[in-house]
Formats: sequence, C-alpha cells, structure tokens
Amino acid sequence: MSSPGRFFDITATYDRQPFYFLKTFGCQMNENDSEKIAGILEEFGFLSTNEMDKADLIIFNTCCVRESAEEKIYGWIGELKQLKENNEKLVICISGCMSEQDKTKAKIKKSYPYVDIILGTNEYATLTDKVCRVLRDRIKIYDSSNDQTYDDLPYINRKDKYRAYITIMKGCNNFCAYCIVPYVRGREKSRLPEDILKEAKSLAGLGYKEVTLLGQNVNSYGQDIGMNDAFSELLNSLSEINGLERIRFMTSHPKDLSDSLIYTIRDQKKVCSSIHLPLQSGSNRVLSEMNRNYTKEHYLSIIDKLKIHIPDIAITTDIIVGFPGETGEDFTDTLYVIKKAAFDNAFMFKYSKRSGTKAALRTDPVSREVIKERFDRLLNLQNSISYEQNLKMSGNKYEVLTEGLSRNNKNVLTGRTGSNKLVHFKGDRSLIGKIVTVRIDDIKSFSMGGVLTDE
Ligand code: 5AD
Ligand code: SF4
Repeated sequence: MSSPGRFFDITATYDRQPFYFLKTFGCQMNENDSEKIAGILEEFGFLSTNEMDKADLIIFNTCCVRESAEEKIYGWIGELKQLKENNEKLVICISGCMSEQDKTKAKIKKSYPYVDIILGTNEYATLTDKVCRVLRDRIKIYDSSNDQTYDDLPYINRKDKYRAYITIMKGCNNFCAYCIVPYVRGREKSRLPEDILKEAKSLAGLGYKEVTLLGQNVNSYGQDIGMNDAFSELLNSLSEINGLERIRFMTSHPKDLSDSLIYTIRDQKKVCSSIHLPLQSGSNRVLSEMNRNYTKEHYLSIIDKLKIHIPDIAITTDIIVGFPGETGEDFTDTLYVIKKAAFDNAFMFKYSKRSGTKAALRTDPVSREVIKERFDRLLNLQNSISYEQNLKMSGNKYEVLTEGLSRNNKNVLTGRTGSNKLVHFKGDRSLIGKIVTVRIDDIKSFSMGGVLTDE
C-alpha cells in the first residue's frame, strides 16, 4: 500500500488550510479517541470547525452499544449526502465502534456510498494517509483492522485544560451476554505502566490537575501482560506525581474489584472517593444469564465494604431494564438492590438487542410497554435516592476543582467535588483550574449550590 501522507501537501489541494468537523458519539473512551484524532489532524495541517458545511473533512466517531445510538448516527450520515453533492472534495470518515462491524460496512456500501473512509478503532494513526489517498486516488477505503496497538501518538488535542483522560487499556474479555463491546473493541490489552506514567507526568507539567483512567474493566488492568494487582500499583505510582491532585478511573467490574483497590482508594488522598460499579441487574438469575459472574449478595457485600472503609465514597452504577426473560420478580430484585445500595446516581438503559451477542439469540423479549413502565419506576426511585444522598452533603465543606463558568449564568462557577458531584458557586474566574473549598447549601438531584469558604 502506498503511503502518500508524508509527501502529500494537503493545503495545496484546497489552496488553503482545510477544515475538519469531528462529532463524537458514546462514551469517554470515544471522547479520548476523538482528542487523539483531532491531534493527528491538527498536526497535519487541518483546522477545527463547528460548522459542518464549512468542513473539508467530516468525521463521526461512533458508538454502537445500543441500537438507538446507531440509528441516530445513520440519521447524521444521511444528512451528509447533500453536502457531498455540493462539494466533491469533501472527505467523509466514519470511525469508532460502528466501523468495526461488518454490517456497518455493508450498510454504508449499500445506502451511504458517499462515505469515503471507514476507520477502525486502532487505526487513528493511518487517518491522514487515508484522507490523502482518497483525495489523490478518488477511492473508498472501507477495510479496517482490529489489531490492538498503542500507537505513539505525537499530540492529543485535549478538550479540557485541567482534567484529562488517559486510556490505560483497550478491549474487554468479559462477553456480557448483551454487550457488543468485546466484538468491536477486541480483547483486553493493557498499556505499559511506564507509558501511562509518562503521559500523566507530562499532563501534570502542563498544569493538569485531574486525570481519569479509562478502560472497559480497569480492575483487570495488567492481567494480559502478566502483572498482578497492577491497577492498585498504578494508582500508587500516579499519586506520587507532583502537581497532579486528583485521580479518577472507570469502569470497574464487580467480579474483579479487589480489597487492595478499596484500601488504595481509602489510603491515597489523590485517588477520588468515587466509583462507577455497574450492577446491570439485581436478580441472580438475570445476572447469571448476563454472564456477569457475581450475585446480588456479592455485589452488596462490596458496597458495604466500600462504605465501611471509605465513608464519603460516592457510588454510581448502570442498570439494564428488560433483559430478555426479565420477570416482575427479577425487576423487584433490582429495585431491592437499588434501595439497599443507595447509589449516588444510576444510568438506566432499556435493553437493546445487538446482533452477534449471545442475548440476541433469545426468543423471550420483554415487551416495550413493560420495559417503559419498569424504566420509569426505576428512574423515579433513583431520582429520590440521588436527592437523599446529596442532602447528606448539605452544610458540609468540600474541596471542589473549579472547571469553568456555568452554562446558564456566566457569573457562576462550576466544579466537582472529589465524589464527582457537580457544584455551582459564585466566585472569580481566576479560580478556574484551582481547587477551592465550598460549603454546600442548596441541594438538587443532579447538582448542588454552595458558597466559597476559607479552608
Ligand atoms: N442494551 C442496553 N444497555 C447496554 N449496555 C451495554 N450493552 C447494552 C445493551 N445491549 C449498557 C450497560 C453498560 C453501559 C455502558 O451500557 O449498562 O454498563
Ligand atoms: Fe460490555 Fe461487559 Fe465488557 Fe462492560 S464488562 S464492556 S458490559 S462485555
């Protein structure tokens, strides 16, 4: 394959610096991938634009975890037809999880043939070469490979100035029966600790205060490269970096969460007292059919342990409503665990059939009406629990990393507590990027208000 990127003057094609429009769908992993894509493009000479009709290159970094996400993305791709007809030099690229599915490639070939590039989740480093080949040879590039690599990317164009994502592992080995991720992101592949530490040190040097370590199951970090208890060790090493004040991570799998990690969160001041621990269902039968490898009793015992050792910990979760065969009794079990665990927040999802997964073969779906009814009940219950949890914070002082100005009121600052609660408070813009002390005095389900205080 020829590689024109290095020898191809992209600005000559357009007689100016070209623009790219990049839209991200899905999770934090995709957001971090988009920051890498943006870095690659800007190093190559592209400028960012928020206007799609001004762009020379349009990239959708996609998600396929639920059908609704895919439908939305196809809606966006459909919108591009006219733009492509009006501008023959426009290059259109679909990257991210959808690009790893054969059915996406077939559908794009058939219904959206104006897409030029389908870029796999491990192929970002090849993007500019592919764009050049499309421009030079007027071809479509739809082959993508799923080989796991950690390209040494030269520049990551991060969205935030004080908080950064660091991907520590890719892929997933768990094959939960409903989930498409292992099929599109491949098996677990951990990044070397020294590379992660290097990235974190360089972020601290640039003034970043907080890092969030990303992986589908960070608790099994290092296992694929023969390391034991590597995640706690990684948190300990990161805690030693001067300038870095906060370390977060997601996502944890209940079956792999070790006591050592609980003690590390307790003992390392920089590791935030918050954990995202997806429950998915509170029914042991459903959990077993989901291939989650834990019971509700085990899950609740972890919650107890976390709360005993880290009293101020905030725990969030994911719940799937209407997994095939979910009975009223199963759902009652989920309500029970939700009440008992008293989550700070829960992300609820209606079950979505993903072809290729084990659950897609099931012939006992729960009806839409029942799913909706259960979903609404769960949402109401969780909203009141979230409010109760937040109420416990009223009157107390918390350290808050100031993130920026409130979207609704430019005189108000926003930030997050270590437990990841969104806080609004009045203060000077010069506090952005700093950790301040705020006393909480106004409680809502999803945010809270407070006043700046002396420590
Ligand atoms: N249907 C509904 N929700 C799903 N999730 C993953 N796959 C599906 C699916 N097929 C949810 C899980 C996971 C979160 C990221 O998305 O709750 O934790
Ligand atoms: Fe999907 Fe389960 Fe892996 Fe999470 S742990 S990415 S839900 S297969």
